[in-house]
Amino acid sequence: MVRINPSILAADFVNMQRDLEAIATADFVHVDVMDNHFVPNLTFGPQMVERIQAVSPIPLDVHLMIDRVDSYGLGYAELGCASVTFHAEASDDPVSLARAIRARGARCGLAIKPATPVEPYLELLDEFDQFLVMTVEPGFGGQSFIESVMPKLDALRATANHMKSAIWLQVDGGITLDTIELASSHGADTFVAGSSVFNGGDPETAIAALRARTQHSH
Ligand code: DX5
Ligand code: ZN
Repeated sequence: MVRINPSILAADFVNMQRDLEAIATADFVHVDVMDNHFVPNLTFGPQMVERIQAVSPIPLDVHLMIDRVDSYGLGYAELGCASVTFHAEASDDPVSLARAIRARGARCGLAIKPATPVEPYLELLDEFDQFLVMTVEPGFGGQSFIESVMPKLDALRATANHMKSAIWLQVDGGITLDTIELASSHGADTFVAGSSVFNGGDPETAIAALRARTQHSH
């Protein structure tokens, strides 16, 4: 089972409902929340996320790129978002936040930037439903895939198999028809794609083509 999650960072912000309807064959809509502090870019906050959720045909995969997430992260789970992922670098207490998010009924993900090692988090996999290995520096769409982070996926897949964990392993950034196979071969099963879904031709065709390039079991 693999998941393709288009990132609406690459959608047309003034035609959001149209673009959400165009990706109805995807698994989740990936919603990048940025605060101009954790990353040098600003997108949208809880009110916009609430409206996206109200009109989206598929559930939300919220990616929080915000500082002080221990204070502001839980609000996104309280909106009823299906999945809320926050950055390890922005949290003083990832386990407490994950437990609070899951207690609200949301899936919870932990994300790490390209330069952040995965080892300190391997023992925490039981606390999360998803682990996001960033394959670009967070902040902007349209960047090139960083292949050198693949060993982090290998370590996560090996640990998850050893623990018999059903955690989803997500990659985000630079996912295209050329890079998705590599990420998949290293154990990723959940793929965020912005530019490659929205900046080509028909999003539905792009989603199907990406899906066809993945491996189906790990
Ligand atoms: C980057 C975001 C990504 C971004 C990916 O900080 O987290 O979700 O939208 O865009 P592409 O697929 O264009 O690299
Ligand atoms: Zn993202």
